[in-house]
Amino acid sequence: MQKSNKVSEAVIRRLPKYYRYLKDMEKNGVQRISSRELSDKMGLTASQIRQDFNCFGGFGQQGYGYNVSELCNEIRKILGLHKNYNVIIAGAGNLGQALASYVGFERECFTIKAMFDVNPKLIGLSIRGIQILDIDTMRDFIINNDIHVGVVCVPKNKAQEVTDAMVECGIKSIWNFAPIDVGTPDNVAVENVHLSDSLYTLAYKMNEI
Ligand code: NAI
Repeated sequence: MQKSNKVSEAVIRRLPKYYRYLKDMEKNGVQRISSRELSDKMGLTASQIRQDFNCFGGFGQQGYGYNVSELCNEIRKILGLHKNYNVIIAGAGNLGQALASYVGFERECFTIKAMFDVNPKLIGLSIRGIQILDIDTMRDFIINNDIHVGVVCVPKNKAQEVTDAMVECGIKSIWNFAPIDVGTPDNVAVENVHLSDSLYTLAYKMNEI
């Protein structure tokens, strides 16, 4: 399947959800699914699903539906999850350590190579075999270890500085958890993750009911 040039942000945001559902179905031995069944499971309309897949040239056959494994593999490739990515985490506090403790990222294709911190009490420790190193060594580490993704888990007032250092050393993807939207050049991908946005949305919904 071809990636079309202009895939909307909304479609891109739905791809991980398709992938998650399809992976689960594949694991449970489901071999084929119609767009109607997929839409029922995912809470989207069948036409929405067909439109989304048409952005990539379309999958499936009329009257047959989708082959779950094939579709899952195609979406994996579209997302770029068929490659391996080396990751570092800056900020080895509560959140940095929680992310490093989670094995799920590695099961996919993201290998956490090291963590970096300023705190001498943390430097030298390991989380699941991942070493916490001095932030002063981060630049050299990035340059020498082919790092693709930088995860920002430092306090808000250090997030831009740490991001800039990552970008200057050649990192092209920033996964930022600090509560500011960090600035980067156009050729660097950024995902800002704010769990509180989701929590506040929940608060809104709670008060609507
Ligand atoms: P924490 O205080 O436990 O950890 C921060 C770590 O960063 C500390 O170990 C500290 O020594 C280190 N640090 C400080 N300056 C640094 C620098 N220049 N270079 C490298 N390391 C440095 O804080 P926590 O709870 O882990 O939160 C980390 C960040 O993530 C904060 O910005 C926080 O607001 C944010 N956060 C975001 C969430 C989200 O949903 N996006 C959820 C929880 C926290």
